[in-house]
Amino acid sequence: MPALSFDNVVKEYPSAGETVRAIDGVSFDVEPGEMVALCGPSGSGKSTLLLLAAALLAPDAGAVRFGQTDLSRLSTKEISDYQRHSIGLISQTLDLFPGVPALENAAIKLLADRVPLPEARRTARPWLERVGLGDRLSHTPDQLSGGERARVAVARALVNQPRLLLADEPTANLDTRRGLEVVDLLASAAREQDVAVLLVTHDQEAAAVADRIETLRDGSLGSPMPLDRTAIS
Ligand SMILES: Nc1ncnc2c1ncn2[C@@H]1O[C@H](COP(=O)(O)OP(=O)(O)OP(=O)(O)O)[C@@H](O)[C@H]1O
Ligand SMILES: [Mg+2]
Repeated sequence: MPALSFDNVVKEYPSAGETVRAIDGVSFDVEPGEMVALCGPSGSGKSTLLLLAAALLAPDAGAVRFGQTDLSRLSTKEISDYQRHSIGLISQTLDLFPGVPALENAAIKLLADRVPLPEARRTARPWLERVGLGDRLSHTPDQLSGGERARVAVARALVNQPRLLLADEPTANLDTRRGLEVVDLLASAAREQDVAVLLVTHDQEAAAVADRIETLRDGSLGSPMPLDRTAIS
């Protein structure tokens, strides 16, 4: 069964007395262990799809499902449980807390869940080690490079072992090599922990790491792009 499915989803935004149809009948699935790259020009609806998957927006028609669960049928409490425990969300701005050390930033979901600080730190530490930041635990975001900040955001998203990882251009401010390192981390989470990953990216090389590429244009999906790995050296 897919971890995430979009079934004929429509999403409109009110805009200056009119409505803008940001998502126009999108259907696709992401399986556990699969990484799907979501590409498309600016304004094509990529972030909107991610927000729908995170239940931060509700569709106007169609259904977004997590496993068999239609997210629109969840109560407010169930939505907040879903957001806290089932998904890891990496926004483009990363949203790390300024002045807070990497270890506590990575542990923030556990702390929000009232896990005691020493235990939250113990749990978060191996995730930071896994993303190569074992020697940066007490660095605050302003003491980390862009790539290191992105890796803290990856550790934070994975810390409570969510089933679904939603990443909105996590490589936006990184050079190609650092960007690919972050995407490789997401790919290993998919493979090793059976996490379903939906990755928004403009970067063709990053997209090529995915198992499949879906392309959005004006809120609709194009035909899935075949992966030509030979094109990337
Ligand atoms: N809160 C909002 N209110 C009104 N219109 C919105 C809102 N958010 C997005 N839109 C519109 O919906 C469409 C899709 O926006 P979205 O942010 O999903 O695009 P995107 O593919 O993520 O773009 P980018 O690559 O620039 O991040 C755009 O036309 C945008 O202007
Ligand atoms: Mg966007």
